[in-house]
Amino acid sequence: MQTNPNRAAWDVSEDEFPRLGTPADKLRFMLRYAVLAPSNRNSQPWRFKVHGRTVELYADRTRSLRVTDPLDRQLLISCGCALFHLRLAMWHFGYLDGTVLLPDPDDHDLLARVTLGEEDSATAQQEALFDAIVKRRTNRQLFLDDPLPEELKPELVKAAAREQAWLHFVDDRTQRNAIADLIAEGDRLQWADKRFRLELASWLHPNDGTAPDGIPNSAQNSGDLLSVAGPMVIRTFDLGEGQAAKDRDIAAYSPGLVVLGTDTDEPWAWLATGQALARVLLRARVDGVSASYLDQPIEVMSLRPKVTELIGHGGHAHIILRLGIGPNLNPTPRRSAETVLIPAP
Ligand SMILES: Cc1cc2nc3c(=O)[nH]c(=O)nc-3n(C[C@H](O)[C@H](O)[C@H](O)COP(=O)(O)O)c2cc1C
Repeated sequence: MQTNPNRAAWDVSEDEFPRLGTPADKLRFMLRYAVLAPSNRNSQPWRFKVHGRTVELYADRTRSLRVTDPLDRQLLISCGCALFHLRLAMWHFGYLDGTVLLPDPDDHDLLARVTLGEEDSATAQQEALFDAIVKRRTNRQLFLDDPLPEELKPELVKAAAREQAWLHFVDDRTQRNAIADLIAEGDRLQWADKRFRLELASWLHPNDGTAPDGIPNSAQNSGDLLSVAGPMVIRTFDLGEGQAAKDRDIAAYSPGLVVLGTDTDEPWAWLATGQALARVLLRARVDGVSASYLDQPIEVMSLRPKVTELIGHGGHAHIILRLGIGPNLNPTPRRSAETVLIPAP
């Protein structure tokens, strides 16, 4: 049981699923799994409207990160993660999903319309992914040196492909070093920008306080400058050189480093990336493997094309993850499903 009310969302119990309730009751319950999805800076930029057998997913652009994500690309990726969690909950509770992305060309905030479909049994694979929802964490701590299970790699590549994205393992040493250097360069450029530091500081919560969003101290890397510095120092000083050295190291030597991307770069592809990201993270978690993000060169516009160039892949890079086995962590805060529900008219 979580004693902190901002972590209460993680105590969801499937025994409480309203089997005899209306379709809307069931959908509202399933949203409890959607809100456990990862999101950039834990901004949770989603809202949902339930009517009858349908849930609509809306972008909450009041939660945009204007400096690191001016086009709302990561915002839509985050919403795609929540969408995948919702679909997984539908499968687990015994329904097919009918999902239409971007159903209204006149409403860019309406990202998906998902309908509760016919009754059906979930596959063993879907059940395993569903069970991983409450266990998944972004893990910024040091990983063990143990290599990734060999059989997991093709599984993760397949997981991304099932959601129309691609996943590239940066295993080649020359490629790995080049990407690690680019990540360090991204750190230096971002930290030199005061607007970046102000935005970052506004989402870091050093004292595990009462905020229902953002990144608490406990989720930051204990050996990381960010966790000891605190928002005031981050706002004021350029810590880029130290962060770059640390991130270069973990990118170069973590057991796995992957780039997740799509062939096109548009809202539809961003939602696909989010669904692929959630599927990849959950599939990794099934095998006890965690991830953390090293997206710096993708967030710096001038560096982004270099990522695909260096790994020799066409298309557009969206996310860089390092993968490995890390220590157990507490979950980060979440707004409850009720809080993000748009009242029915
Ligand atoms: C699209 C996206 C981008 C992210 N980018 C970063 C990042 O650049 N650095 C980082 O440390 N975490 C990043 N994260 C992880 C979030 O900070 C994390 O999901 C959030 O704090 C919630 O914590 P949890 O994943 O442990 O539930 C990203 C997550 C998403 C979905």
